[in-house]
Amino acid sequence: MRVTVGVSGGIAAYKAAELVRALQKQGAEVHVVMTAAAQKFIQPLTFASLTGHQVLTSLWDDYWSAETTDQNGIQHISEAQWTEALVVAPATANILAKFAHGIADDFLTTLYLATRAPVLVAPAMNVNMWEHAATQDNLELLRERGVRVIDPGAGALACGMMGLGRMAEPEAIADAVLSALGRRHDLAGEIVLVTAGGTREALDPVRFIGNRSSGKMGYALAEAAVSRGARVILVSGPTALHPPAHCEVIKVTTADQMRHAVIEHMVEATLVIKAAAVADYRPVHVSDQKLKRTGPMTLELAPTEDILAEVVRRRRPGQLIIGFAAETQDKLENGRAKLLNKGADAIVVNAVTGDGVGIEADSNAATFLTLQTAIELPLMPKRSLADRIFDEVLTLRRPKALLVEFGESGDEKAKQDAVLKASSAGDAATEADEVLISSAAGSRRQLIVE
Ligand code: CTP
Repeated sequence: MRVTVGVSGGIAAYKAAELVRALQKQGAEVHVVMTAAAQKFIQPLTFASLTGHQVLTSLWDDYWSAETTDQNGIQHISEAQWTEALVVAPATANILAKFAHGIADDFLTTLYLATRAPVLVAPAMNVNMWEHAATQDNLELLRERGVRVIDPGAGALACGMMGLGRMAEPEAIADAVLSALGRRHDLAGEIVLVTAGGTREALDPVRFIGNRSSGKMGYALAEAAVSRGARVILVSGPTALHPPAHCEVIKVTTADQMRHAVIEHMVEATLVIKAAAVADYRPVHVSDQKLKRTGPMTLELAPTEDILAEVVRRRRPGQLIIGFAAETQDKLENGRAKLLNKGADAIVVNAVTGDGVGIEADSNAATFLTLQTAIELPLMPKRSLADRIFDEVLTLRRPKALLVEFGESGDEKAKQDAVLKASSAGDAATEADEVLISSAAGSRRQLIVE
């Protein structure tokens, strides 16, 4: 994995050193590019020592140097071709503005324009600068163009103010880079059944009742799951898309065919994601011959089976079931009602507004709804949204709380050992409530670890 870390001028620049280390720990070879402002905060020598490579600081440094390995100052082009992911951390308001408007006046900004690799930015700035409409508009533009924005966190800022603007943690940024490179294998061992596209219900040999679903969201989910190590079964209605590589694809046309395929294959699935836009009604009579125009016509329709509800009824223990909801009004209210009615573990609700977002479009925004939470997933390309959905799905796999017994006494050492054991088993055992359980056999203590 070849990653270029761009460092722009903010106090969080020192954290870029931790990011370099985190990426190296994952096996990445890292180059560092610094803006002039970044060099006011941290010396290039720090990054040169960490990476073992010259730090790229200017378009002109080696222009006439005999030692330069690249000719005639076109190093930004060779770097653009070398890199597999460009991540800018910290990304200042200035660098975001330059990226958004195509200003290319130093190494980092020319590299950004010249590379075809995925680009990630981890903004860090004062809360007012972050909230300023200019910054938010620039971010929106960048997101639309496929740049992955790793949102800053809230807290005390270097300027003394409180609020949003703290750069995301280096580990989280490294994780996002791995994800962008398709090197995250956190779905290894999962068998993911994805449904995609719309279904068609025939009226006669040439006509059908269908919908505008393009299948893009479902295909993005299938592709993301494959790249994160899952075995994927894709049940797809008719679409114009090429199926992603390494998926088992089952092509269907009608809601009933989709139902059969899903019921047959859900037996082996560990995770079912129902992104398909399934027809709710089908014509009661299907004509063998092309229907002739004979004046006004009334169609009699019968409801189709609700596949998602049936999947929930047939679920095996441990199987996760995620539905989608396309809503034109009262998005959250309707989404919540579907979550309850259908009994899925989560529903991904998206508003169908018809203004180039959602159905048929390349980008979408959604809310990941569970009984306890409503996570907003802002407008982004569907492939990025697919990854964000899997991030949230994986949180459902983590135990929310677990009991750890640690014996009779109130022995602090035993308690600490129990918490440590829980953490090393993968549970974030940071806080623990102690519960005293009295029984005839004596009293025992348990920890509830969140
Ligand atoms: N769904 C399904 N079978 C159907 C209809 C929908 O499995 N016959 C699934 C979809 O794949 C989606 C979820 O149910 O995951 C919600 O689909 P949506 O069309 O938003 O809702 P409906 O259940 O059809 O309800 P309504 O159209 O009344 O909003």
